[in-house]
Amino acid sequence: MYQTLLTELDKGTLIITINRPDKMNALNKDVIEEIGKALDEVYHKDEIKSAIITGAGDKAFVAGADITEFLALGKEGGAALARIGRENVFDKIENCPKPVVAAVNGFSLGGGCELAMACHFRVAGTNAKFGQPEVNLGLIPGYGGTQRLTQLVGKGKAMELMMTADMVGAEEAKTLGLVNHVVAPEELLQKTKDILQKIHTKAPFAIESIIASVNDAARCNPHGFDNEIERFGSCFATEDMKEGTAAFLEKRKPVFKGK
Ligand code: COA
Repeated sequence: MYQTLLTELDKGTLIITINRPDKMNALNKDVIEEIGKALDEVYHKDEIKSAIITGAGDKAFVAGADITEFLALGKEGGAALARIGRENVFDKIENCPKPVVAAVNGFSLGGGCELAMACHFRVAGTNAKFGQPEVNLGLIPGYGGTQRLTQLVGKGKAMELMMTADMVGAEEAKTLGLVNHVVAPEELLQKTKDILQKIHTKAPFAIESIIASVNDAARCNPHGFDNEIERFGSCFATEDMKEGTAAFLEKRKPVFKGK
């Protein structure tokens, strides 16, 4: 179905594997378009409850935007590349009402680091390496990296990482708050799946509301506190909230239906 991706639905999680291992899974036009389509599936198919984004092979998650597509571009073309990518993929991931998690299995550089950062959180293999080396090309991150890296690691470290193009390993990335867990490469996918299985047992509307509310905070949305109240109230209108509170009082496990 896809030319540049492998997809597999496993217990409600769509595993999206970017499949250009000979090019370090670099994001060319086709990959961007196809990730956008795979995300549309995540948004619209009821049987998909979450997604994992990872890279094929054991070297790279994604080593950036495809640099071979850069030379032909001028000012407008460069801006369009960034805008189309952000709309089709990066913002679509961030705003997805279902959890999207990056399983980072190697180099996560440039647009690859930005892809991982657009996900709701990240799990890394011990072989993961993160960096924003665009400055080496006379560029800056264009898929939201200047914003999301600053949100995740703070201003000083973001400045240094982007200005030096230095890479950080998985453990340092964890210390910086860039990744939540570091596991052996062979355990990476299972660890990520296990976290998502736990999230699948929760009420979907609450999960969707958490994503939207945390995004408000990350964007310094001045309406973030009011939006939280609104969403908190909306939860009371769901059958799942009645089920969750009843189950607690009856000392049993809740069974959420997504209603
Ligand atoms: N765009 C296009 N092609 C890329 C690429 C990218 N971002 N990253 C890697 N590739 C290609 C290489 O050109 C090479 O292709 P070839 O076999 O046809 O020559 C292939 O992937 C393998 O990469 P190679 O550099 O030989 O592997 P390596 O193990 O020596 O180094 C990296 C791995 C990731 C350190 C190195 O490929 C790299 O620095 N990539 C670019 C990272 C970058 O600047 N990203 C930001 C882009 S904005």
